[in-house]
Amino acid sequence: MEQLMRNSFLFLSKNKALTKMAKKYGLRFGASRFVAGETIELATNVIKELNKKDLCVTIDYLGEFVDTIEEANEMADNCIIAIEAIGKENLDSQLSLKMTSMGLDISDEIVLNNMRRILEAAKKHGVFVTIDMEDYTRCQKTIEIFKELRKEFDNIGTVIQAYLYRTVDDITDLNSLSPNLRLVKGAYKEPAEVAFPEKKDVDDNYKKIIKMHLLNGNYTAIASHDEAMIEYTKQLVKEHNIPNSQFEFQMLYGIRTERQQELVKEGYKMRVYVPYGTDWYGYFMRRLAERPANVAFVLKGMFSK
Ligand code: FDA
Repeated sequence: MEQLMRNSFLFLSKNKALTKMAKKYGLRFGASRFVAGETIELATNVIKELNKKDLCVTIDYLGEFVDTIEEANEMADNCIIAIEAIGKENLDSQLSLKMTSMGLDISDEIVLNNMRRILEAAKKHGVFVTIDMEDYTRCQKTIEIFKELRKEFDNIGTVIQAYLYRTVDDITDLNSLSPNLRLVKGAYKEPAEVAFPEKKDVDDNYKKIIKMHLLNGNYTAIASHDEAMIEYTKQLVKEHNIPNSQFEFQMLYGIRTERQQELVKEGYKMRVYVPYGTDWYGYFMRRLAERPANVAFVLKGMFSK
């Protein structure tokens, strides 16, 4: 039943008509628990509140799978507006973005142009940029773009997904760049030809890449709400005398909020991923797919109003 629900939400997350409708009608169905608001002003208010609690942020102007040059350029413009707001208000925030929002499905030239514009602005304001990882069909291309840009910029990192079979090889291959990587389990629906179907195998591979990347001496973001992964990391860094300055925990806005605060109190760096914007639908559907309890939350929200 849980698997069926998960697959249904992941299937719905890619529906273009529903995405358009969601943009038109604004934040609904309890999405505001996971999305900071539709404007940069609302997002900066949320960042300020989180910063006050010593939580760092990475902000994400929501958008994915754009198919026109105009939309891709507009997405990049909005990322630059976000970077300028971070700089102007001196916020403790990085930026995250998706390659399909920069024109990945259109051409390499468009993506690279947009990314160079963003990275220049980010460099000027001291903002670090992370390229999110999308579905498997875009993984190779995303890694190639990251490698290309990493030669020119040092304020860029990307995401590696533990559910993919290729991941250990990617960690090994990328090591020569000493990359700052965010490690996640993976949020998309992938076939068994490319990704571990069993959760236990994903968890084992996740631990494996956390260990590899940390012991390679690279900065590591452990982006997970899973207590077992947090505990594993704590033990590992203790065992190998890895300083707190070499890693951080990351969680999504609206998920395990109290735990985020506790980790700060325990002395760890904790970064919250804060999405905002009108293109909230796909992101929201993936969060529902992750956890049936969130669906109950949404239904309660829908019927209690
Ligand atoms: P898992 O899903 O195994 O859950 C373990 C436990 O965590 C649950 O039992 C529950 O206690 C708690 N939990 C998990 N999800 C919850 C929820 N939604 N609500 C409440 N409790 C929850 N993916 C991707 O493919 N590309 C990317 O670029 C990113 N980027 C990214 C950034 C950040 C900062 C985070 C935290 C995550 C991502 N992800 C991602 C998503 C990631 O791949 C994964 O889908 C989710 O983090 C859920 O997996 P967990 O590791 O949290 O554990």
